[in-house]
Amino acid sequence: MTLDDKKLSTSLDSMRQLEQELKGNYHALNELRQLQMLFESYSEKLSEKTNQLEKSNEELQKQTQRAENLAKIGELASSLTHNLRNPLGVITSTVKIIEVTSKDSLDEKTLSRLSRITNSANNMFQQIEDVLNFVRKKPLDIEKVSLLTLLQSAVNNIETPERVTINLPDNEILLECDFSKLVIVFMNLITNSIQAIENTGFIHIRINEDSGTVTIEIEDSGSGIPSELLPKIFDSLFTTKAAGTGLGLVYCKSIVEQHNGTITVKNNPTTFTIKLPGN
Ligand SMILES: Nc1ncnc2c1ncn2[C@@H]1O[C@H](COP(=O)(O)OP(=O)(O)O)[C@@H](O)[C@H]1O
Ligand SMILES: [Mg+2]
Repeated sequence: MTLDDKKLSTSLDSMRQLEQELKGNYHALNELRQLQMLFESYSEKLSEKTNQLEKSNEELQKQTQRAENLAKIGELASSLTHNLRNPLGVITSTVKIIEVTSKDSLDEKTLSRLSRITNSANNMFQQIEDVLNFVRKKPLDIEKVSLLTLLQSAVNNIETPERVTINLPDNEILLECDFSKLVIVFMNLITNSIQAIENTGFIHIRINEDSGTVTIEIEDSGSGIPSELLPKIFDSLFTTKAAGTGLGLVYCKSIVEQHNGTITVKNNPTTFTIKLPGN
């Protein structure tokens, strides 16, 4: 009981006592009852307000926690950028030197492997940049793009093991969005699906447009997400993997929300659903 609640209940007790004393004096009793009713409705409103205040306080604490987590991500991103840029630069420049100096002696397969190394290193650069962008909340670079090309780029940028089959959609949708940021969103989701598939399995990607909303679904035949973890997976730094960062889904949610969209997840089968405003 709060101090205010205590004061109110003492006042209500005194009123009840007064009611006993005023027995027979109908006019005074009537006035007292009206006063009592007024008092009770005031007391109800006060406890409603207290509840609202408690809720706002809880929300404020959550926001502070989120801000602290973001600050941690910022620190992590800065140190990652610093530590990874140099070795990545060494990788890309060495590959370039090999490509230029040994061009004639290298077969097609080796050349394509080398270009894959460069692509992967560039993707890592891009991801580091994008985590920083997320921390800095850079505005989107919107253009009209083919959703199919976008998904294809995401798949091409990932090393998919042979045990996993990815089924891309065969319909096409044009979408106004930030191409490179959404490619990384889908790379994150597809990578998570690949990591969740222990042996062989599949990833189905479906797209459709209805009443001005574009829906993209990524379904996988992986291990699923334990139901008690479902509410946590979009929290920053939440991971169940030994080498996970817990940044992937935070990034996805942030980018999707920057596009005024939503991202949700369900089990059986594990399906991530992204809804974006369409044409
Ligand atoms: N497709 C999926 N299947 C099962 N679990 C998933 C899937 N996607 C995400 N998760 C769960 O959500 C957690 C957070 O994912 P994410 O933010 O990408 O971070 P990370 O991949 O670094 O762990 C993962 O550690 C995993 O437990
Ligand atoms: Mg991930």
